[in-house]
Amino acid sequence: MPSTDAWWRDAVIYQIYPRSFADGNGDGMGDLSGITARLPRLRELGIDAVWLSPFYVSPQHDAGYDVADYRDVDPRFGTLDDADKLISTAHDLGLKIIVDLVPNHTSSEHAWFRAALAAGPGSPERDRYIFHDEPPNNWQSVFGGPAWHQVEDGQWYLHLFDVSQPDLNWDHPEVRAEFLDILRFWLDRGVDGFRVDVAHGLVKDAKLTDWTQPAVVLGGLEPAGPPPPMWDQEGVHEIYREWRAVLDGYAPARILVAEAWVQPEERLARYVRPDEMHQAFNFPYLEAPWQPQALREVIDSSLAATGAVGATTTWVLSNHDVVRHASRLGFPPGEKRKPGIGIGDPQPDTGLGLRRARAAALLMLALPGSAYLYQGEELGLPEHTTLPDEVRQDPAWERSGHAERGRDGCRVPIPWEADAPSYGFGPSDASWLPQPATWAEYALDRQVNVSGSTYELYRSALAARREHDLGNGSLTWSATEGEVLAFRNGGVLVLTNFGAAPAELPPGARVLLSSEPLDDGRIPADVTVWALV
Ligand code: NOJ
Repeated sequence: MPSTDAWWRDAVIYQIYPRSFADGNGDGMGDLSGITARLPRLRELGIDAVWLSPFYVSPQHDAGYDVADYRDVDPRFGTLDDADKLISTAHDLGLKIIVDLVPNHTSSEHAWFRAALAAGPGSPERDRYIFHDEPPNNWQSVFGGPAWHQVEDGQWYLHLFDVSQPDLNWDHPEVRAEFLDILRFWLDRGVDGFRVDVAHGLVKDAKLTDWTQPAVVLGGLEPAGPPPPMWDQEGVHEIYREWRAVLDGYAPARILVAEAWVQPEERLARYVRPDEMHQAFNFPYLEAPWQPQALREVIDSSLAATGAVGATTTWVLSNHDVVRHASRLGFPPGEKRKPGIGIGDPQPDTGLGLRRARAAALLMLALPGSAYLYQGEELGLPEHTTLPDEVRQDPAWERSGHAERGRDGCRVPIPWEADAPSYGFGPSDASWLPQPATWAEYALDRQVNVSGSTYELYRSALAARREHDLGNGSLTWSATEGEVLAFRNGGVLVLTNFGAAPAELPPGARVLLSSEPLDDGRIPADVTVWALV
């Protein structure tokens, strides 16, 4: 049985992307003081915890996922004092704080990598990374182009991501010791857990064998089969067992969340065995098309796989690496798309996307387990799908030779006030990525206390989810007709109509929540209803 202290099992965790959430000083870049000032808004929304993407010292070549100092805050985002204040304010509000940990690679500006370059071939400093005299294989970087880069003295180093993100050598005891210490550093400052970046990548196959397929990780799971030599190697699990032992020394419970693009779900579940991590993002769910059968299958397989190891299942629709679901769902279901959307690309149907996004949110928030929200989805925010290419900053755009637009479109600063400069993102009109001219209608102040707004839909859903304890519940499928997906979770019946024609509610059903108004008592197309029967 989970201990009563197991707060994460049913938690709704809200992802903040610090550079785009709230700008306290008006320089156009979000910051920690901006976040702290807005935490009461998140309390009002009804979430349980916040996950912060990286805010550490970094040259920002990959928006902070290139860390130069794991124990300090980047001046763009504030100071360590600001971090302490953020954590204590969150705790005073009853919110947990999860921070990002990036252990697969450092920044090329990290002291260790600088020392490695200075010390030269064969030095102990080089041994903390993966240097070779010749590229030992044909691996490709996730962001495009080769994964090996040659330095001035002729050696090559591995970077599965950008050239500014050298992979660490996790066979090295100093690397292991360093991360144990970084964990303690943040645990001692009071954080409630870590989201572990590229959790499936730390250990590479010792033979560094060739891999003929692209090293896909974001926005496309590997086909089932033996894991590629750079991902999901057996050795990663030992690392997480060691980390878990450290976390278990703290009370109340602290958690580890795996960002692991691994399938099938049984392989992913190995990351959340009782002595390893607590949760893993459910990317198969995020990637499932808007189709009842596909969703039913992924819900079943996720629940079965995590259930088999006694872990909680997570659900997620959006994050800072994928096209926002309000836009994704505005394309025909099941269509395979490249990451990112730009000028000249086919554009989504915005109205349909939002309608389906609202239905998808109600469906997700009724599922047992824990749910992750991405900042702005509670506003129904779409992707910026016409961002000028000149302003793009995602390294994937350049490294892919402009074949992939990349992830900037989901990272645009979010709107708070319809009529303020930068839509209230900060006190000035500065914004590190331009905001679309159409975003006033999504601003929080246009939605608070407005019946039927997406914000109020989320708020009501989170309150009802808590009241009916849906996160701790269990799911039973109900027989349905046509293209309706229906299940019960405790006393709540959840129905989503994927068909074009309105669907009937069971006799006597009392509607608790509906993602759109009903049509003469029936469930219209692309609508989810929660009902008591
Ligand atoms: C996954 C992160 O979510 C993504 O934003 C980043 O680019 C890569 N890992 C590399 O750290």
